[in-house]
Amino acid sequence: MFDPVDIRKDFPVLGKYVYLDSAATTQTPRQVVEAMCDYFYKYAANHGRGAHRLARETTNHYEDAREAVAEFLGGDYEHTIFTRNTTESINMVALGLDWEAGDHVVTTHVEHHSNLLPWLRLKEKGVEVTVVTSDPRGTVDPCDIDRAITDRTKLVAVTHVSNVFGSHMDVKEITRIAHRHGCMSLVDAAQSVGHMPFDVADIDSDFVAVPGHKGMMGPQGTGVLYLKDTDSIRPTYLGGGTVYAVTEDGYKLENAPGRFEAGTPNIPGVIGLGKGVEYVKALGIGDIQQHEEHLARDAARRLSEIDRVEVYGPSDRAAVVPFNVIGLNPHDVAMILDETRKICVRSGHHCAIPSINLLKVEGTVRASFGAYNLPREVDLLVDTVEQIATTLT
Ligand code: ALA
Repeated sequence: MFDPVDIRKDFPVLGKYVYLDSAATTQTPRQVVEAMCDYFYKYAANHGRGAHRLARETTNHYEDAREAVAEFLGGDYEHTIFTRNTTESINMVALGLDWEAGDHVVTTHVEHHSNLLPWLRLKEKGVEVTVVTSDPRGTVDPCDIDRAITDRTKLVAVTHVSNVFGSHMDVKEITRIAHRHGCMSLVDAAQSVGHMPFDVADIDSDFVAVPGHKGMMGPQGTGVLYLKDTDSIRPTYLGGGTVYAVTEDGYKLENAPGRFEAGTPNIPGVIGLGKGVEYVKALGIGDIQQHEEHLARDAARRLSEIDRVEVYGPSDRAAVVPFNVIGLNPHDVAMILDETRKICVRSGHHCAIPSINLLKVEGTVRASFGAYNLPREVDLLVDTVEQIATTLT
């Protein structure tokens, strides 16, 4: 039975602060930290690189985590590549595909920089990039993507949920459109996996980039690149663990996933991530979604009723509430929320300057919610913002 009050005992830090910044990084449950401590205290060794018992135990835990994450995403083990974060996952696609001058990428105005800069950099190779715009509330119409695709389009790269607006993109439909045109699709799931049902097989995208430290409740420094076809990209890095034969003249690559994980990986992090998805699964993704969205929509509605407060994004938002107190700098508002009530929110451009430009503001204050947040935290946020808006503007 999902009980946000009960689960807070797994997050000691929440006893001291009102943490409303889960879109930046989620707090880590005790079970994940303990799984990582167990690695260090009980069996630490390298992964896949030894016959001794500690190496075997480490390898087993690491690969069990891969099984758990693959199942959580609705995918297969060999297709689940561990990375450092969403950003690395997306860059691996940009660097791993073969590009020719004249190739074309379609992306959108509501991407965070991680799903925009890797494509813009391809312009150096003569690749063309079209940035499709959204409606004023941050939702991209799949028909606009359809219209932007040309016979040179190789990839459509779209976020599932905007980290600035909290808006959802219909990534299944966008993927279907991309495939109908014979191009590939990439879904940036930074703000969706772990917050709502997500199934890589159902969405059918060629590439899915997922953070470990957000909805999956793993530690920072973990992420996933899910590859529908493990031969679709070249590995970005080569080295230990990626090959099964080497001579002075060349090498033969390992099969996936090994070929994509060069060098010693973040072993404790991945083991923690495996525990994180177990934790999230036990809470129940449907209940998490309902709870987080209820809090976010309630907060958005009540904030928008305050004079001199402007709230952005759609009414059917995910767990992200961007707003401004008119006349105040968003960083100042965030500082006051912290100084007066220990309310932790993000402020500024959220690493998504084009989205902020769409809003025609310098930045926003952003409250974002996790499974562990409570209605009384929404009350405190709304009351404090109201005080700021009435006394300081
Ligand atoms: N993209 C993350 C955020 O929105 C870091 O805060």
